[in-house]
Amino acid sequence: MGTRIEGIGIYLPERVLTNLDLEKMVDTSDEWITTRTGIKERRIAQNESVVDMAVKASERAIENAGIDKGEIEAVILATLTPQLGFPATACLVQERLRLPPTAMSFDISAACSGFLYGLDIADAYLKSGKKKTVLVIGAEKLSSIIDWKDRSTCVLFGDGAGAVVVRYDENSESDILSSKLYTKGSAWPILYREPCGYLKMEGRKVFKEAVNGMAEASLEALKSAGLSAKDIDLVIPHQANFRIIKALAEKLSIPFEKVYVNVNRYGNTSAASIPIALYEALKEGKIKRGDLLLLTAMGGGLTWGSTILRF
Ligand code: UT7
Repeated sequence: MGTRIEGIGIYLPERVLTNLDLEKMVDTSDEWITTRTGIKERRIAQNESVVDMAVKASERAIENAGIDKGEIEAVILATLTPQLGFPATACLVQERLRLPPTAMSFDISAACSGFLYGLDIADAYLKSGKKKTVLVIGAEKLSSIIDWKDRSTCVLFGDGAGAVVVRYDENSESDILSSKLYTKGSAWPILYREPCGYLKMEGRKVFKEAVNGMAEASLEALKSAGLSAKDIDLVIPHQANFRIIKALAEKLSIPFEKVYVNVNRYGNTSAASIPIALYEALKEGKIKRGDLLLLTAMGGGLTWGSTILRF
């Protein structure tokens, strides 16, 4: 009995930007992008704002959960591309969803780990008994902060949103079994954005931090849940780079068929990446109720962490 993902929804813009399209924009090649990252294409928002994407994903999650939206008591939105300086993007989503004032709404800024941070906060609210139903969203319009002349970053990112409705259900075996989240503020200069500037990254350094951080956090989360890597049915890692995901699976000694990958189709969608991957894994029949899932992410901050849940 515990915290249960009751519904999930995603939104991906229709416009597809392929590696071949990028070859015409910067000095790069499909071969370089594919071998170094595994990415073949990504989605780019056209007229959609980050709020539009978050609202569509949320509406689908609410419908999928089969709840009345008036039951939502908190909206927690993770993004590194907020719509405004303030108020929080979550407030704009709350307005568009026409939620009552009892649905307190706020953003969290934890970059690519934002969805896991949001899920952890939701879990704490639910387990404390303060709230029964929480909407957690990861939504990003990364195309708006990318320097489209910088080949070292512009090939990596994409736009999209994912949302989950989480509830406390005492009659269900579903639960968040453990969540280990970390921050290393001293490493912020390897991945950041100045106000109104572009995203900057020292890729090689972030790569190493990502593999080591996600592996260590996963082992800690497993230990805390009294489980071992063998117990996990599916790993849903943050989708930043195929090589990072492969190295992570090797470090955890988890066979690659137990690791979900869709970075080839969407690139790195930051806070949206885990809920989008979770949704697609579910749709493809790779997850069923009762399965043990390991979610793990690393991003700017640096922030990282791992969450183990019984779906
Ligand atoms: O979401 C969490 C945050 N992000 C990540 O987790 C990303 C972590 N980092 C990475 O995924 C990888 O480091 C990258 C994909 C960003 C880069 O791959 P890499 O194997 O670390 O390449 P590199 O940065 O060491 O660059 C190798 C070469 C360089 O040329 P020289 O100096 O060897 O002549 C780059 O200038 O590749 C060059 N290069 C490119 N060439 C063609 C960099 N970007 C490109 C490009 N096309 N798009």
